[in-house]
Amino acid sequence: MAGLQKFLSVSATAVVLALVAFAGTAPVAQLPALATQVTQDAPAPETKEHEFGDAFVVSLGGKLYDNYWAGSGASPPEMRNPAFPSDLKVSNTDTWRCVSCHGWDYDGAARTEGSAQQQKQFVSLRHLQGTDPFNMLELFTRAHPDQRALAAGGLPLDLLLLFLTVGQYDLATFRPEKSMSQKNLSRGRDIFEGVCMSCHDPNGKSGFQVRPDMVGSLGWQARHQPKRMIHKIINGVPGESMLALRFMDEPAIADLVAYLKTLDPDAN
Ligand code: HEC
Ligand code: HEC
Repeated sequence: MAGLQKFLSVSATAVVLALVAFAGTAPVAQLPALATQVTQDAPAPETKEHEFGDAFVVSLGGKLYDNYWAGSGASPPEMRNPAFPSDLKVSNTDTWRCVSCHGWDYDGAARTEGSAQQQKQFVSLRHLQGTDPFNMLELFTRAHPDQRALAAGGLPLDLLLLFLTVGQYDLATFRPEKSMSQKNLSRGRDIFEGVCMSCHDPNGKSGFQVRPDMVGSLGWQARHQPKRMIHKIINGVPGESMLALRFMDEPAIADLVAYLKTLDPDAN
């Protein structure tokens, strides 16, 4: 987060304006859609800064990384991505999502265990954290002529590239051996009770749709899909009302995840 604060020393509005100016041909029509999302996704803030702050702008990029179509309101591609490994059962739209190949921790999705095709496609983007977002456009365009939804450039792409350069969370903060003391767990519990419980219930088992790839339980997810969970807690859920906790420091979020692991122990 220190890098983020250093880079984003100007206000969020200025960042967005700079990005629009940088894009040159920014499709202005997309701005109202993003503005609507900003309003819908806004966390319960004490100040306007939380609604439109720097952290919030970066979290919009994180949502696009998760699911570009849900995050921007565009219609999802129907065709399967021919580059996506054919030995994996993934819906056609999901084969285009950044996270499907680059992973929930941006280090490549399940790179080490996968087939040769997976190893080739599931590449890490960790090295981009801390680099200059203005050099990223060229890297992205060279690597991804296939991502047609983003080829025209504009604000959504700029937000995505900004996210990759300043928004990746620090893996070291979330190592399982960290934040297990009673003090850490009780801070995690305070955050859960204050911020999450109203939507997900005290046992963390409500507020989800049924999905084939997860059990609708925060305890289960913290134990089985911690990287996915951390990304969603920090950036919010594309197209959903859930707040993004990026404005909190990462050790506090690590405590929250450690506490979530203790919930609903019967779900294994
Ligand atoms: C089907 C798998 C796949 C999907 C989906 C995918 N990527 Fe990639 N990405 C790759 C591969 C493979 C490379 C390396 C390509 C190369 O080196 O030519 C790459 C390279 C990149 C690079 C350049 C990295 C560098 O250091 O040069 C960026 C940036 C990038 N991807 C961002 C994204 C974003 C943002 C999305 C979502 C909009 C996305 N990718 C979706 C497979 C994927
Ligand atoms: C305003 C209501 C609301 C609040 C407050 C809220 N959530 Fe959510 N949360 C949602 C909704 C809606 C979804 C999306 C459910 C779905 O897609 O099935 C969601 C999804 C999630 C997911 C992603 C599940 C997945 O698809 O991987 C996680 C993790 C999560 N919430 C954790 C939390 C945590 C931790 C907190 C507290 C910091 C919190 N939520 C606070 C409404 C909320």
